[in-house]
Amino acid sequence: MRPSTDDLVHLSSGGVSLVLDCRGAALPAIVYWGEALGDLDPAQLALAAAPQPIGFSADTPVRVSILPEQSAGWLGHPGLAGHRDGRAWSSRFSVSGIDRSAHGVRIDASDRDAELNLTVEIELHPAGVSRARARLTNAGAGTYWLEHLTLFLPVPAETTELLDFTGHHLRERAPQRTAFTHGMRLRENRTGRTGYDSAFVLVAGMAGFGNRHGRVWGVHTAFSGGARTIAERNYHGWSALGGGELLLPGEVGLREGESYTTPWLYGVFGAAGLDSAADRFHGYLRSRPHHPRAPRPVVVNTWEAVYFDHDLGRLTELAHAAARVGAERFVLDDGWFGSRRDDTSGLGDWVVSREVWPDGLGPLIKVVREAGMEFGLWVEPEMINPDSDLARAHPDWMMAAGDRLPPPARSQQVLDLGNPAAFDHMLERLDALLTENDISYLKWDHNRDLVDAGHPGSGRAGVHDQTNATYRLLDDLRARHPGVEIESCSSGGGRVDLEILERTDRIWASDCIDAHERVGIQRWTSLLVPLELIGSHVGAGRSHTTHRVLPLSMQAGHAIFGHFGIECDLTTRSAAELAELAAWVDLYKEVRGLLHTGTLVHGDVADPAYSLTGVVGEDDGLFAIIATATSDAYPPGTVALPGLDPDRLYHVRPQPPGDVADGNAAAWGAALPWCTPQGVHLTGRALGSSGLRLPVLYPDRVLLVRATAVDDQAGRVVAS
Ligand code: DGJ
Repeated sequence: MRPSTDDLVHLSSGGVSLVLDCRGAALPAIVYWGEALGDLDPAQLALAAAPQPIGFSADTPVRVSILPEQSAGWLGHPGLAGHRDGRAWSSRFSVSGIDRSAHGVRIDASDRDAELNLTVEIELHPAGVSRARARLTNAGAGTYWLEHLTLFLPVPAETTELLDFTGHHLRERAPQRTAFTHGMRLRENRTGRTGYDSAFVLVAGMAGFGNRHGRVWGVHTAFSGGARTIAERNYHGWSALGGGELLLPGEVGLREGESYTTPWLYGVFGAAGLDSAADRFHGYLRSRPHHPRAPRPVVVNTWEAVYFDHDLGRLTELAHAAARVGAERFVLDDGWFGSRRDDTSGLGDWVVSREVWPDGLGPLIKVVREAGMEFGLWVEPEMINPDSDLARAHPDWMMAAGDRLPPPARSQQVLDLGNPAAFDHMLERLDALLTENDISYLKWDHNRDLVDAGHPGSGRAGVHDQTNATYRLLDDLRARHPGVEIESCSSGGGRVDLEILERTDRIWASDCIDAHERVGIQRWTSLLVPLELIGSHVGAGRSHTTHRVLPLSMQAGHAIFGHFGIECDLTTRSAAELAELAAWVDLYKEVRGLLHTGTLVHGDVADPAYSLTGVVGEDDGLFAIIATATSDAYPPGTVALPGLDPDRLYHVRPQPPGDVADGNAAAWGAALPWCTPQGVHLTGRALGSSGLRLPVLYPDRVLLVRATAVDDQAGRVVAS
């Protein structure tokens, strides 16, 4: 369809409107993105928002398209940078067609002078999540060298504050706030994986926006390699969030007829704080046909239980102990293959070690299956130890920018999956493992940054190829073994993004399973990822990574707000501890339906010692009141229970087996008047406004609170 002069497109879905100005031949500009506008004459909207022609870089108002172009007079960050030996460095695309797609529009454009074709897809999904991507094709002779292709979504002037994320191993996704001032905030990820410190979700919002107040707009650059995420504001009243792939020099040289496609840039709007934005991400992910819908099984992972000490007898005992506390999936971690007796050798040799598994994995798998559990296995297919049979046979399969190897990290190098021979070998090995063994789950790890990561031989930069080859490897393996679930792990939570989640079923949020640290890590991971996809384990009494000692009630009471698991040596735990753990497993099994389909909520708790997380379903809710420090108020104030139906009556009481209920978790919890099995009966409106009195808690304690509707939809009390 050729655009006509009155082509304004109003997409509206899931409470969100996106209005595109497709008038004229230039690339479309987004004139509005935010709360749904209902019936609308988009031409009137565009007229109302049209700027004065004040004339600086051009006499006519500069139209900033989704792919901003300098040829339109735009002097901010360009959408496209590239050239043909110095020519064709500035594009001027002319739209040749606009077509409606399932969830939005597809725009085809070309630039005859630059000899480039462009296709832009803009979608708005039923959950209210928008996403955009572009494909650039070289339509001329010679090579077009692409530097970046970056899409932008505009945000309104009221967004004066930015939130994005940083982090490191064991402390992923730490929030940071900055003012959204004139200029550009560019978050680059050069780690060759999504990165612990990626921008993750870049949010622009009204000053002081919180969990449940303030309008917010956020973007997520869905890519597991180099990425750039941008917030830009200028003195012409333009503010936008953008993102795309970070390409290394010379990584993408398009020959005639070749194309490059950007990652999806996801956009989300929230009318009432971060929870309303997260709810849209969660709704979008849950609507995918391949989203895991079966109950998320209780996992026991062997890593912090035995590390590299693999022994059939010991692991058989662990498997039996796991089954006794109610585990449903047993995952054998690193150390089962080749010469992998520690982390210095063996990566790449994906053959069961006869030294530690003389009869293969079969005997352990049999024990696990007979105990009623699924069997899962750890792999790290993109990596190679120089001390491995694979590296000795194919030294030229290790990524390198020249005749030198990159500095080793965790004693390993990166396997060049852009090399078809290495790719085929790895696919064959993984396929054989899954074919020969009864494996229903892979924990897919990736334990180093990509440094100096070139294709050996040519020395050309290879992060772009590596990332796409990894996607292909996962896709091919899943096509061959569609029933196998895959977890995305990268030294903990180094690979959490929506593109890896297109081909994996859960993410490992962090190698830190200290519940105190996990409060923040999981809260912020869940801004994008719903709880059922976030691996969350109970560890040893003394955390292996922080040496903090926490009671089981804190560990388990927090870990159930995720895809629950256990990662400690159960064979050394006392009978009392195992019984308590089994009770938590029972609770998780009882509430996982709610936790994994309900709406995630967070309180705006004024007291920095406390936080409140909850999940609200049709007729009930489960909340965790968590203290991570002592309060400066004694006793502390009240907390609102958000998200409940204002017009329904709820029975609210502490949820066993939290140890407040038996008087241990709170210093004085037993004496708190509402904190009894009888609890209180209040409407969702009262609970969301007046709330509950917080208990005095020891630091690092959790009090679970259950709210159950006791009326029917018509307001009649049917239970108490
Ligand atoms: C890093 C992961 O994050 C850990 O959980 C564990 O699987 C180790 N790698 C194994 O080497």
